[in-house]
Amino acid sequence: MTGNPAPLWAGRLSGGLDPAILDFTASLAVDRRLLPYDLRASAVHVRMLARQGLIDPAEADAIVAALASVEVEPDAHDEDVHSAIERLLGELGPRVHAGRSRNDQVQTAMRLWAKQACGDLVEGVRGLATALLDRADAEGDAVLPGYTHGQRAQPVWLGQHLAAHVWALTRDGRRLSQVREAADVCPLGAGALAGSSLPLDPEWVAAELGFARSFANSLDAVSDRDYLTGLCYAAALAMVHLSRIGEELVLWTSAEYGFAELDDSAATGSSMMPQKKNPDAAELVRGKAGTAIGRLTGLLSTLKGLPLAYNRDLQEDKRASFDQVDDLAGSLAALTVCVRGLRFDRERMAAAAGDGRTVATDLAEQLVREGVPFREAHARVAGRVAAGERFAEPTAEQAAAGRLAPDDLRAQLAEARAAVAAL
Ligand code: ARG
Repeated sequence: MTGNPAPLWAGRLSGGLDPAILDFTASLAVDRRLLPYDLRASAVHVRMLARQGLIDPAEADAIVAALASVEVEPDAHDEDVHSAIERLLGELGPRVHAGRSRNDQVQTAMRLWAKQACGDLVEGVRGLATALLDRADAEGDAVLPGYTHGQRAQPVWLGQHLAAHVWALTRDGRRLSQVREAADVCPLGAGALAGSSLPLDPEWVAAELGFARSFANSLDAVSDRDYLTGLCYAAALAMVHLSRIGEELVLWTSAEYGFAELDDSAATGSSMMPQKKNPDAAELVRGKAGTAIGRLTGLLSTLKGLPLAYNRDLQEDKRASFDQVDDLAGSLAALTVCVRGLRFDRERMAAAAGDGRTVATDLAEQLVREGVPFREAHARVAGRVAAGERFAEPTAEQAAAGRLAPDDLRAQLAEARAAVAAL
């Protein structure tokens, strides 16, 4: 299409809109992804208007049929996706917007999108958690050093370590489901801010659109973005968890650790150094976590000074939310590939865990079992370490098993799998 269509509100203002203002305020490039959700909500709104006797049933049928085939042209210049839909309905357009404002319209579409996005993200979380658990089930009996302060601390099972990430992911999944519940309120009928004098039926609209309930307060309905800040927070925290997994992939696949090697399909090379095999995907997850934290604080900052009810600032909620969801979905998918293809080097891990010093605590606890006070046991073993001794007993495996028996590890992995299945 060519040229700019007249804005929906053109009746109030004279002359054309300066192109710089249109470009600056338009959101179509971002909110066009709301199209399917807005079309669904618009069809239900129109059917409600007919049920309430506000438009002719035959005309409502024609509008609903037209909505089913609306497609916004790639080069459209409308102010936003809602304006584009009304324009594309042509002669059928003028009756659609009765009792509705873009303020309640956009949030209805956005909440429908957010519910879908939360569900999809939970699936992505489940995918990565399952990949970790599959590896834990198959190779969880390998031992490696657990670390504190970046220093070798005590031998642990690989399964125990991998499952720790799984528990963080299950909390992410639950948080995302809570966000879905927060989004499950239909704002349609709130109008611009104050509702409408027309006899609308918001409860019927909410039920038809699959929402759990309709809004309780019209001003709140058009200005509440809690579900989006919740989404940005849940996603930012999930990204922080993924970043920690990414960081471990970077460390473990380095020559210094050598605990694992990425599959070639998950690694990248260097344009200059022929020998390089780089964990770019894991690094990028780590980098995107920083950006995700920024989006959360950005959205909170946008909201903090806003008086009720709608203000155009709120348009900024979309880019932040869409990008947040896209980055988390992409990061989950990338790490799932990395984890599935990882080749663990059990010998390297065992050698690091069995350096003769990581079992010092287990040795001290052995002395406690023989009746020595712990502080004295600690001092005795510390003295031997300081003297340069390396302990052959217990072995790293014995030490790990002394704290978590293989049967108990299997039970823990089953418990984690059940938690993932319950997401
Ligand atoms: N694109 C706008 C947004 O995302 C839609 C609502 C516009 N409302 C208005 N009164 N200008 O918030």
